[in-house]
Order: sequence, then structure tokens, then C-alpha cells
Amino acid sequence: MSDHYEVGRRIALLRKEKCYTQEKISALLNVTPQAVSKWEQGNALPDTLLLPLLAKLLDTSIDYLLTGDSFAGKTGPYDGEYQKEGYYWGMEPSQLALQILEHLQNEAAGRRLLDLGSGEGRDAVFFAKHGFQVDALEVSAPGAEKIRRYSQLSNYTVNVIQADMIGYQLSGAYDVIYSHGSLQFLPLTQRQKHFDQYKQRTRGGGLNAHLIFVEKPFVTPAPDWERNEFFYQSGELSRYYHDWEILQCGEKIIDCNSAGIAHRHAVNCIIARKADV
Ligand SMILES: C[S@@+](CC[C@H](N)C(=O)[O-])C[C@H]1O[C@@H](n2cnc3c(N)ncnc32)[C@H](O)[C@@H]1O
Repeated sequence: MSDHYEVGRRIALLRKEKCYTQEKISALLNVTPQAVSKWEQGNALPDTLLLPLLAKLLDTSIDYLLTGDSFAGKTGPYDGEYQKEGYYWGMEPSQLALQILEHLQNEAAGRRLLDLGSGEGRDAVFFAKHGFQVDALEVSAPGAEKIRRYSQLSNYTVNVIQADMIGYQLSGAYDVIYSHGSLQFLPLTQRQKHFDQYKQRTRGGGLNAHLIFVEKPFVTPAPDWERNEFFYQSGELSRYYHDWEILQCGEKIIDCNSAGIAHRHAVNCIIARKADV
């Protein structure tokens, strides 16, 4: 019974986030509104055959709906860290997030921004606070849950999409597509097509901004570097944006203490603008 209750609670939470009514879900799934209400109250579980479509409508996975965890989206140490009380990456926005605002001269109101691999939402909430309409895409279920909580606590609305960015089809156009320390999870063979999509899904005059990790022979890989993370080469990031105006692009070495062990990263930050035609 308590499992049914938890499943129902997740369905209700995700449904409300997407601003769907129970009637809307019932119409899309071809069931009665009473059935949806029963699921949400923990009095029944959705039929197995309905789960794939229900998960799709709620922008989540079947395993997350049923268990609160995401097996496909296991992301190294992050799931465990994100389940702890504190904020693994802190609550302060990154420097790159601050720089985006400077480039837009603080005129963010109503602009649509996508944050790829948003962790626990420090940048997503910061952007929302400054008036962006934010989509925060994060594969880790506990991470996505933490962003939702942070967004609710702070009263700045963030639309959380719990999904794998690999192969994720973006919908609509964004003013800013942003990532901070997450695009190393794109497999080498798929990078070009993902950057092509990010560029294509950006409005004229819009920005793409990324911080990525660069391979340097004199920087030892971080202790928590995983097998599904792939370094970039120096200069690679600016090549993806060769036909955009590069507002800022530079490499630096930064200190990091993730996994509780002091180490360094070589990073490349870029802010590029699409021509306004
Ligand atoms: C280094 S953390 C950075 C988090 C956040 N951008 C920040 O700076 O606080 C990388 C994030 O990417 C997420 N991630 C990893 N693989 C992903 C994927 N395939 N799709 C979406 N997010 C992913 C991880 O779960 C993690 O939260």
C-alpha cells in the first residue's frame, strides 16, 4: 500500500509540474479521470501497458515512476550525493551563469533558457530568479527531485525535465542553451549532432554557453572521473561554433574538491552568439 502511495505522489507531483489536470491525463491515456485520481491517492497502480505513455507525458522514466530511482540514468556518484541534505555543488551560481547575465545586460525577462545537466539546480534557479523561463534537464532522479525542491523553496519556477540528454530531442526554440560541466557525458561519436541540434534550436541573436573539460597531459584526471565521461580537445568547442560570433572563449585550470579530494581540471568556457537574421 505504501508503495502505491509513493507512486501516486510522484505521478501527482510530475503532473502538476507540467500543469496537466487529471482530466487532461485521463483523456491522453484514454482512461477515466477517476482512474487517475485513484493512482494519485495510492488506491491503484496504472496498468502496465499505460506506463510507457504515462512516463513520456510526465517527462520521466518508468523506473522513476515506480521506484523513485532511475536505473538507466545512473550517473556515477551523483545519485548518492544528491540524496544527501546539503548541496553538492553549492547554491551559488557559477561564474559562467553570471557572465550570461552580463552579456544580456540583465535583460532576461521572458527569455527561454535550457540548462543541460543541471545537477541540483544552482544555475537553473539563479536564471529563473533573473526572469528566464528555465528548462532544467537532468538525468539523475534525485538531482531532478532536488531541483524541484530548490525551485519550490526559492519560489522561482523551474521546469524540470528528468531525462537523458543523449538523444534527447529538444522542442521549440531557446534564447540560451547552457551547460556547466555536463557535456563530457556526450559520447564522442554523437557530439557533433548534439551541438548541431543545440545551434539549430537557438533563436537568432540567442546564445550558447558551455563549460567543458579539456584533456591536458599535465592535469591528472579527477578521482571521480567516470568511464562514460569523455574529455574534449583544446580548440574543439570553438570549432562547433565556427560559424557563430564568439563572445568569449578561454581555457583555464580550476581547483575542485568533488568527491572530497582536492584536484584540478582544465576547462574551456565559451559564450557564442547566433547571427540574428
Ligand atoms: C559536474 S555535474 C554539474 C552539475 C551542474 N551543471 C552544476 O554546475 O552545478 C554534471 C551533471 O550532469 C548530469 N548528467 C550526466 N549525464 C547526463 C545525461 N546523459 N543527461 C543529463 N544529465 C546528465 C549529472 O547527473 C550531473 O548532475
